[in-house]
Amino acid sequence: MKGVILAGGTGSRLRPITHTGPKQLVPIANKPVLEYALDDLKEAGITEVGIILGNKGRDEIQAYFGDGSDFGVDITYIVQGEPLGLAHAVGCARDFVGDDSFVVYLGDDLMREGITDLIKDFTSDEYAAGIGLQEVEEPSRYGIVDVNDTGDVIELVEKPEDPPNNLALIGVYVFTPAIFQQIEALEKSWRDEYEITEAIQGLLDDGNRIQSHVVHGWWKDTGKPEDVLHANRLVLDDIEPNVRGTIENDETVRGRVQLGEGSVIEENAVVRGPVSIGEDTVIKSGTYLGPYTSIGDSCIIDGVHIESSVVVGDSEISADRTIVDSLIGRQATITANHDKKPDGERLIVGQNSSLEL
Ligand code: TTP
Repeated sequence: MKGVILAGGTGSRLRPITHTGPKQLVPIANKPVLEYALDDLKEAGITEVGIILGNKGRDEIQAYFGDGSDFGVDITYIVQGEPLGLAHAVGCARDFVGDDSFVVYLGDDLMREGITDLIKDFTSDEYAAGIGLQEVEEPSRYGIVDVNDTGDVIELVEKPEDPPNNLALIGVYVFTPAIFQQIEALEKSWRDEYEITEAIQGLLDDGNRIQSHVVHGWWKDTGKPEDVLHANRLVLDDIEPNVRGTIENDETVRGRVQLGEGSVIEENAVVRGPVSIGEDTVIKSGTYLGPYTSIGDSCIIDGVHIESSVVVGDSEISADRTIVDSLIGRQATITANHDKKPDGERLIVGQNSSLEL
């Protein structure tokens, strides 16, 4: 079985971060979102992976993952170009997948328990497709799937006013090649996209059976800044301590901390895990790094109190300020204006920005 990761799209809900790069490379605990999908596929035994690329961030994604050999997989890049919808993106993989069943994984999705069980469950001689579902609290905000007692799909409804249940599509699918005829026959939806839900509904309408698999561990899509911060908290909740850099004073560092090679936590810096710090980053004396914070590579963090935030990398933050629940893009510079002393800041900062707080 092959895997297809969808990494095109616009990422409009994650602006300004996505003005300058693809959302699939946004780091969660210092690892790009897309790498989690790749890891899940690999764990499920799938090493032939097609990555669908849009116009945005095409080169960055290829530069990071290369031919996949550093990640233990074999990657084929497939260019979708304009984001014409998930069904269109899947359709682009037709030649790559050939006659086999294949897994589709949204490139901005994270799943705690991976996809091994979902794939193991799938029986291609009985079902034309299998879909991953999870119970959600506000079903009217999601694509909801009605299922019968055996888990066979009865109907898919997009953002229903009167939901039949609370089982939402989570963005992992197993398809047989039968899906391609459905995709070919699609027309664009009201939002001008080719919808994968309509292609799946087409399979059902033609009398095919669709299997469902309910995923219980957490699932998070990282479409919006608050989702990135939430995903970062969920992943940091599970990290193991791993110190490759230098901690100058053990007494000031508590909890689970990951510290990359070449990084330093200076003597009077306080770090309260779970915290992930990349490589070649300096946490200067006088800094407080609170729980659920990820700081990327090559940063200088000086004198700031920062918690529950993601700093993507190559940034300098030197401000005696409190920054919480913030997402700070690459190469940002944040300094303090000493005439002002606010209580705390929540920031979404794009790449190459300079801020004075
Ligand atoms: P979405 O989050 O639904 O779409 P988007 O990336 O365009 O974001 P926004 O709504 O904020 O503008 O996409 C889910 C995943 O599928 C994501 O990894 C991007 C990918 N995708 C494609 O590869 N091709 C497409 O045509 C679309 C719409 C999405």
